[in-house]
Amino acid sequence: MDRLANKIALVTGGASGLGKGIAQRFVDEGATTFITDVAEQGPAVAESLGASFLNQDVRSEDEWQQVIAEIVDQHGRLDVVVNNAGIFSSCPVDETPLEDWQRVMDVNLTGVFLGCKYAVRHMKQNPGGPSGSIVNLSSVVGLRGQLGGSAYSASKGGVRLLTKTVALENAKVGIRCNSIHPGVIETPILDPLFAASEDPAAMRAGIEQSLPIGYMGEPARDIGNTALFLASDESVYITGAELVVDGGMTIGLP
Ligand SMILES: NC(=O)c1ccc[n+]([C@@H]2O[C@H](COP(=O)([O-])OP(=O)(O)OC[C@H]3O[C@@H](n4cnc5c(N)ncnc54)[C@H](O)[C@@H]3O)[C@@H](O)[C@H]2O)c1
Repeated sequence: MDRLANKIALVTGGASGLGKGIAQRFVDEGATTFITDVAEQGPAVAESLGASFLNQDVRSEDEWQQVIAEIVDQHGRLDVVVNNAGIFSSCPVDETPLEDWQRVMDVNLTGVFLGCKYAVRHMKQNPGGPSGSIVNLSSVVGLRGQLGGSAYSASKGGVRLLTKTVALENAKVGIRCNSIHPGVIETPILDPLFAASEDPAAMRAGIEQSLPIGYMGEPARDIGNTALFLASDESVYITGAELVVDGGMTIGLP
């Protein structure tokens, strides 16, 4: 119940899916937890979890400065930042409009860059000396190519190496940075895929059959617990790592 006791944590995109599951596990384990999002349901989700809510569009440098300043003003420190907010896209490269590419990069990669930038800046000022853990949400398609994934897969591959760079730059001062690479986890991000299918039930069954483990992941149990481990002092010797949480999706050929 206290694996994150006395820690001050921020989870972006916390109003839905994985961010909500991560925030739930953080609250369960004693962290003072802030979720941020652009979604209307953010304040209600935060209340239901026992977390606090702040409006934030992760693409905005000003909003990053405001959000972290507010948390540090209230609590005097910042221990954990989970850069989770993200959007999905799927389109062949030769049909992808530049504005769609840019939109995906802005949220999925620039948003994570800004999160790392301001997390490191404030974690260096923590009372007692620099310390902290940054957790970035990449994907299995940050490790492999993806049909239709020119923007999404490229953004997630960028997150993977940004993570390692932030980890290298800050290892000596005790600020860690790791990435999580989920496979298929049941969240609203999948809704457009099922909605576009003529037979969503058959599509779901097909996805599940393609996974070695035979079923999709759950936000809190699978990604929440992984983020909890990386956020906690249990993983103090782990930095720059990529934790794949995919039910075996990437371990071999089908
Ligand atoms: N669900 C999966 O199978 C899966 C797999 C691999 C990676 N991921 C990654 O995990 C993360 C969370 O995905 P999810 O499945 O929970 O999706 P989701 O759609 O359920 O939640 C994403 C949240 O991010 C918020 N968001 C979007 N744009 C934002 C912005 N500009 N500023 C602030 N918040 C913003 C949304 O409002 C939403 O609440 C994403 O980065 C996604 O790419 C998900």
